[in-house]
Amino acid sequence: MLELARLNTGLDEPALHHLQRLVATWQVLADLAFSDLLMLAPVDGTSGRRFLLLAHVRPTTGQTLYPTDLVGRVVEESERPLVARAWHLGEIAAGVAPVMGSAERARLQCIPIRQDGRVIGVLSLESGTTSTRRPGELERHYLATFERLARMVGEGSFPFTRGAVELEEAPRVGDGVIVLDEERRVRFASPNAVSALHRMGIHAYPTGLRLSEVGVDPAPVDAMYRDPAPVMLELQRGDSSVVVHALPLLAATDVVGAIVLMRDVTDLRHRDRMLVTKDATIREIHHRVKNNLQTIAALLRLQARRLQSDEARAALEESERRIRAIAVVHETLSRDASDVVPFDEIVRPLARLVEEASGGPDFPIRIEVEGQVGDLPGDLATPLAVVLNELVQNAVDHAFPPGRNAAGAGRVRVTLAREGDDAVVVVADDGVGLPPGFTLDAPSGLGLSIVHTLVTTEMGGSLELVDDRGARAVVRVPVGGPDDG
Ligand SMILES: Nc1ncnc2c1ncn2[C@@H]1O[C@H](COP(=O)(O)OP(=O)(O)OP(=O)(O)O)[C@@H](O)[C@H]1O
Ligand SMILES: [Mg+2]
Repeated sequence: MLELARLNTGLDEPALHHLQRLVATWQVLADLAFSDLLMLAPVDGTSGRRFLLLAHVRPTTGQTLYPTDLVGRVVEESERPLVARAWHLGEIAAGVAPVMGSAERARLQCIPIRQDGRVIGVLSLESGTTSTRRPGELERHYLATFERLARMVGEGSFPFTRGAVELEEAPRVGDGVIVLDEERRVRFASPNAVSALHRMGIHAYPTGLRLSEVGVDPAPVDAMYRDPAPVMLELQRGDSSVVVHALPLLAATDVVGAIVLMRDVTDLRHRDRMLVTKDATIREIHHRVKNNLQTIAALLRLQARRLQSDEARAALEESERRIRAIAVVHETLSRDASDVVPFDEIVRPLARLVEEASGGPDFPIRIEVEGQVGDLPGDLATPLAVVLNELVQNAVDHAFPPGRNAAGAGRVRVTLAREGDDAVVVVADDGVGLPPGFTLDAPSGLGLSIVHTLVTTEMGGSLELVDDRGARAVVRVPVGGPDDG
């Protein structure tokens, strides 16, 4: 809307700001009047003979006259003389005119929009002439409240320039309305408002009573009568929660009443709480899985200590290490409830696991981590963590055999990157390089077999292992779109 207005009307920024605020709060007007509301402003340089339709809102309480989008349409003075009249005279103009783009007739009420004493646009309230709504008490109160708000638009006091702004949860007219009079007595309460009160345990029939007599804390409304600005708050009583949005009704600068919109959000709050509980449960499960994995790892270690055979002991220790790598992933998943893992955060702890068990004071091995892959789905993070662990472990195990390390220290570099839809992990060392005749097709150990199987079968990716002043392993796996897996 702003773009449209900037290009085609001569409105300045304060005027545009005012219109924008009106659009943010005008649903209540359309709903109270059961009618469509159109916002128009004159096209620049036409001195009020042509109007641009800047915005449109449909009533949620009634039928729309305009199911198709009207915004951007240019309206001639001849098509909507009442709009031009409201614009030129700065007064509300009412009458009948054809529905735009149809032969039907509409009842119109055109309201000048005033800001800072000047007219900056026109609101056109349009409803069918053959209203099927039986005018009852509710309709009378809604329309009377609308009339008051319409006059406020004309006087420049609506939309409010301060106070609560609309939230997504802001109550609507259909959720429940209470109209208060000058004396802060309930003049009217819609059936939905009465049931919201019931659910809060308030059974008094509110009409004619003050809020304190109804059993509602009157302080916020009292404050609003003293200092007229909208108020938004949430009332809680027992299990039920009600969001309240109160707007003062003004005549010039006097508060002559208020409209209180209320919405029972008990179910919504209940659902919020359930979601929080569910998140906590998921986190707790990951936490327990991590603990269990660590217990298994500890059991393997105990068992390894009792073994006489070096080979058997090495095998168990390796298994322990692999299990700990998986535990690191669950540790991360237990920290927040999402099913994606911030993979970059687990690379450091993984590297530390290997670092701690390697080298020794006479031959330190430093593992550096750089780059980022960002978030990975949980079912990808686990195998990738295992793969990374094996590759780093291999560098530590094989790149720096004793007696071949002139430099006195070893370096392993882990580089993470996101390339298009692929996660790329590179593990490079500055060691002795791969043994002669090495081929990935016939891996001699379990480590690379695991890596190969996980990368190609489990993750659908590719693996490369080459000599490049040391060994360099490149793992590339597709992270997968939304319809993956
Ligand atoms: N970074 C490296 N530098 C030098 N040689 C390597 C490197 N990585 C792997 N290799 C060679 O590849 C072989 C196979 O590795 P793999 O991880 O499959 O088995 P392993 O490490 O010997 O045993 P395991 O991983 O099952 O404990 C190694 O024995 C080693 O010769
Ligand atoms: Mg290995």
